[in-house]
Amino acid sequence: MAKILVTGGCGYIGSHTIVDLLENGFDVISVDNNSRSSTYLLDGIQKISGKKVKNYHVDLKNFDDTLAIFQENDDIEGVIHFAAYKAVGESVAEPLMYYENNMFSLINLLKCVKEFNVPYFVFSSSCTVYGNPDEIPVTEQTPEKPAESPYGATKQMGERIIRDFAAQNKTACILLRYFNPVGAHPSILLGELPLGKPANLVPAITQTAIGKLPQMKVFGSDYPTRDGSCLRDYIHVSDIANAHTLSVQYLIDKKNKHNCETFNLGTGNGVTVFEAIKAFEEVSGINLNYTVGPRRPGDVIAVYANNDLAVKTLGWKIKYNLKEMMDTAWKWEQKVKADEEILNRQKPSLN
Ligand code: WQD
Repeated sequence: MAKILVTGGCGYIGSHTIVDLLENGFDVISVDNNSRSSTYLLDGIQKISGKKVKNYHVDLKNFDDTLAIFQENDDIEGVIHFAAYKAVGESVAEPLMYYENNMFSLINLLKCVKEFNVPYFVFSSSCTVYGNPDEIPVTEQTPEKPAESPYGATKQMGERIIRDFAAQNKTACILLRYFNPVGAHPSILLGELPLGKPANLVPAITQTAIGKLPQMKVFGSDYPTRDGSCLRDYIHVSDIANAHTLSVQYLIDKKNKHNCETFNLGTGNGVTVFEAIKAFEEVSGINLNYTVGPRRPGDVIAVYANNDLAVKTLGWKIKYNLKEMMDTAWKWEQKVKADEEILNRQKPSLN
C-alpha cells in the first residue's frame, strides 16, 4: 500500500484528496501547521473513511521539522503539496508573507524529496498562472501572462522551481492547475472552512445566506464579460481530489512521458459571478442579499479550462455539475452552523 504524504491535509482540497486516496487503497499521512485550518476536517475524514489519519503539526518553513517527518517515514512514495496561502486579495496586500510562506515551504519540501529519493511529487498549482489570457478556454500550452497577484506569482514560480528540479532529479512530478474548487464532499462531512471572513466567492455566498455575513459584495460589474461580472471555471472539490489520486496512480504505472507534466483541472464551462449567485438561489430557494461594489485588485477578468489533456491522459471523469456544487456547499454551511450551535451549547458557561 503506497504511502502518500499530503501537505495541507487539514485544509479544504487536502482533506478531500485524503478521502479519495484512502478510498483507492493508499496509505496517507498529513502535515499541516493549522495556520489556516483546524483538525475539524480530520474528524470528517475519519467518519467517511473509518481511518484515523496522522497529522504532523509542522510548519514546512522549518526545514529540520520537515526533514524529521521523512526520517520517521522513510517509505513515503509520493508527496502531494497543497500547503500554501491562497487568497488573491490578501496576497496583493501582503506580498512578502505570500512569497515567504509559499516559496520557502516548497523549497524545503523538495530538499527532503531529493534527500529521500521520493519517487513522485504532485503540486497544487492554479489557473492564476495564466494571468489574464488573450484567449479562453486555456490549454496547458496557453502562454502565461504576468500574474495578476503575488499569489499567482507564487504558483508561476513554484511551477518553474519544480520543472527545474524534475530536470535534475529522478522524482517524477505533476503540476495540477486548479480552476475554482467549490462545494463539499457528498457526505457533507467535509467542506470548506475559511478562518475569518471568506475571501472566496462560494463561502461568501453561503455565509451570507446563513446569516454569518450581513451582505455579500460582488466585486465589479463593469468587466468586458456577458453580464459584466468576472468569469471563472467552478469545479467540485471532489472532482479535483480524484484527479490527484489518478495523477499518483499515473506516475506509479509509469505512464508519464516526461518527468514533469502539467494538467488543467477545470470543467471547461465558464460561469460569471452573477450566474453563480443565480445557481445558488435556484438550489437553496434563497434570494441572496448582495450589492455590487468596486473591482477587487488582482482579479483576472475571465478564465476557464480546456481540460481535454487531463480527461484523455489521466482518465479523469467530472462527476458534479454547478447545481451540485452549490447544493453541497449550502448543505455543508448548514451543517457547520448546526455543529457550532452544539459546540456552543457544550462550552462551559463562564459565570
Ligand atoms: C472568484 C470571483 C471575485 C468573493 C481562487 C482561489 C485561488 C485559486 C483560483 C486554486 C472573482 C468574485 C469573490 C466575494 C466576489 N484556486 N468574488 N465577492 O480569485 O478566482 O481564485 O480560485 O488554486 O486559490 O483564491 O476565486 O472565489 O476569490 O473569486 O465578487 O465576496 O468571485 O471578484 O471574480 P479566485 P474567488
